[in-house]
Amino acid sequence: MNRRGLLVIGTVAAFGMAPAQADDIVAGESLYAESCVACHGASGRGMASFPSITGRDADYIAKRLKQYRAGEQVGPNSGLMAPAATDLSDDDIANLAAYISTTFE
Ligand code: HEC
Repeated sequence: MNRRGLLVIGTVAAFGMAPAQADDIVAGESLYAESCVACHGASGRGMASFPSITGRDADYIAKRLKQYRAGEQVGPNSGLMAPAATDLSDDDIANLAAYISTTFE
């Protein structure tokens, strides 16, 4: 168990959730670097019409990603975001949400 793994368990315990397994922050980090950083930036603060995704909890981020994956219109620029979410699995979303919510402030 590495420190990040412990952090996940600590975070999960702090929020009182009980997932079957800890989400994989390291996997979330590499997926973010591959598919998200171009628009939301290395510190999640976004730029221009790409919103900041800092300061959000994992549930919020996961819910949004599922909405975009489903093709729902969320804000005025959902059409820009949806293609990035289309191919995400539920695990990808959980990992991304864990990474984003524990890394960006
Ligand atoms: C092409 C640029 C682009 C890429 C790539 C992209 N996003 Fe987005 N993202 C956006 C835009 C634009 C919005 C706002 C969409 C709207 O108006 O509904 C958004 C919205 C979001 C939101 C909701 C923010 C809120 O406050 O509700 C989250 C969470 C998010 N993106 C995460 C991600 C993740 C995770 C990835 C990588 C899998 C990603 N985005 C890739 C452009 C992008």
